[in-house]
Amino acid sequence: MPIQNVCILGGGGFVGQHLAALLTARGIQLRVPARRREAVKQLNVLPTVETVEADIHDPASLNRLFDGMDAVINLVGLLHESASGQHDSPQARRGSFQHAHVELPRKVVQACKAAGVPRLLHMSALGAAANSRSAYQRSKAAGEALVLQAAGELAVTVFRPSVIFGPGDSFLSLFADLLKLAPVLPLAGGNARFQPVFVGDVARAFADALDQPETHAQAYNLCGPKVYSLAELVRLTASSLDMCRVIVPLGVSPSYVFAMLMELKPGQKIMTRDNHYAMLTDNVCPDGFPPLFGKATALESVIGYLKEADPRRGYTAYRAHAGR
Ligand SMILES: NC(=O)c1ccc[n+]([C@@H]2O[C@H](COP(=O)([O-])OP(=O)(O)OC[C@H]3O[C@@H](n4cnc5c(N)ncnc54)[C@H](OP(=O)(O)O)[C@@H]3O)[C@@H](O)[C@H]2O)c1
Repeated sequence: MPIQNVCILGGGGFVGQHLAALLTARGIQLRVPARRREAVKQLNVLPTVETVEADIHDPASLNRLFDGMDAVINLVGLLHESASGQHDSPQARRGSFQHAHVELPRKVVQACKAAGVPRLLHMSALGAAANSRSAYQRSKAAGEALVLQAAGELAVTVFRPSVIFGPGDSFLSLFADLLKLAPVLPLAGGNARFQPVFVGDVARAFADALDQPETHAQAYNLCGPKVYSLAELVRLTASSLDMCRVIVPLGVSPSYVFAMLMELKPGQKIMTRDNHYAMLTDNVCPDGFPPLFGKATALESVIGYLKEADPRRGYTAYRAHAGR
């Protein structure tokens, strides 16, 4: 029977909102829990979405949330740990990679089994590896391994995207904001290579996989059609906004120092040493986008979304600049 009821964890985020819109358009009923109802209020306009305030780290809450679901999609993730990885206080532990990327997937697998949910789709990240220098990538590897280990009992599928672009992203949009601050942008990790993938393609891969038995017990890398250096991506961002900017890629050592300084700065994190470690390895997939999920969208064909971005988003860069 086709999947009709799906619970999305992390559904209020960038990918979650695009995926919720696509699944709603396909007539699927969604339950989207969030820590704060405010974080998912944009989803309330979608006709088949039920938003719920819940603590998804509490096993009993998870069991209740999963009751009656045909599938669970776990998108929860964070790029920067709060409190620099000092996990001794309960609050800091909650903001840690271990908590979000390892402990939560473990609880999700257990709750799926307990609530009789047969299907689980899990969001990992390209570059996830147990031996990575980046704690983000090591924790993503541990989380996806836990999910894949459950393949005997649950129909699981794991996705590993490269960096994701599209309306509402925090990657190219952040650079679009930073470019407004000065005519010259020294760029940490400027030589790092990515194969960015469109958020609409990522959402389609999740949505299509729900009912595709051949995706059970599989992990898919998701990449766009082209490889770019970070400096090329930022230049493309500038030209799409008709800005004339000089981008100066920093080498490995200056990038490390820049990342360390950014960690010391209060307020929103732009970059950490952990991001720097992740960028030392190419974030690309030689096989490109899996043909099973259709064709990947070229960045150049949609980059116009940066011009139409929410004007309030520009405050992010100003806040980061001012250390707030
Ligand atoms: N965006 C990319 O370029 C990219 C690339 C590769 C992989 N990914 C992975 O894709 C997933 C979705 O990414 P995204 O860009 O949509 O991220 P996002 O916009 O930051 O959304 C992340 C979601 O996870 C929730 N969340 C984060 N930490 C949590 C915690 N400790 N407890 C409960 N909820 C928590 C957030 O809830 P709140 O709103 O309450 O914070 C939000 O709903 C993540 O797993 C990410 O690692 C993203």
